[in-house]
Amino acid sequence: MLGLATGSTPIGTYEKLVKQNVEGKVDFAHVITINLDEYVGIEKNNEQSYRYFMNTHLFNHVNVSMQNTYVPNGKADDLSIECQRYDDKINKVGGIDLQLLGIGHNGHIGFNEPGEYFEGNTHVVSLGKTTLEANSRFFASIEEVPTQAITVGMQAIMQAKKVLLLVNGVDKEFILNKALYGPITPKVPASILQLHPDLTVICCLE
Ligand code: F6R
Repeated sequence: MLGLATGSTPIGTYEKLVKQNVEGKVDFAHVITINLDEYVGIEKNNEQSYRYFMNTHLFNHVNVSMQNTYVPNGKADDLSIECQRYDDKINKVGGIDLQLLGIGHNGHIGFNEPGEYFEGNTHVVSLGKTTLEANSRFFASIEEVPTQAITVGMQAIMQAKKVLLLVNGVDKEFILNKALYGPITPKVPASILQLHPDLTVICCLE
């Protein structure tokens, strides 16, 4: 079970995985994927949806079975039932083996935004100003960025057997330092990763 992220950071990783799959070096035939997050209110075939992102960058190009790929449904009639359904799915397949993560400028992982406490379960989150601004680069204007998302919570991330945090760009240096060497606090959500027993960080801070 592979936990996956969207955003600019893992695009190169997905390109490499596609290439290796085509070359027969990586096989997705028995892989189940579970994505971290999805915007609320966006259809899955909307180009801005994270489902669309994953199909375009990975799923459409490898031998994964589409029915084994999970992304939260941001258009669910009842979002709290959808969150529960998503956690049930993660638990049913025995949790995440390898969780791929990026980090936001505010220290978010998935869409676990800075707050007063670490939220364990999959939940609906209101996106903070920094996140809306950062994500507006994919939209015509900041007003078009959905203000809410569904995100996997800290429990599933922290229970993953391995976590791989990818960090790209000098603009992430400050937050990466805080996350890895600062106090463990929900104000820097990624700081919880200091407690993970098997965390690998790959960063390119240029
Ligand atoms: C998206 C996700 C986010 C991103 C983070 C960094 O699924 O989980 O936490 O990893 O916002 O985004 P980029 O890579 O675009 O800088």
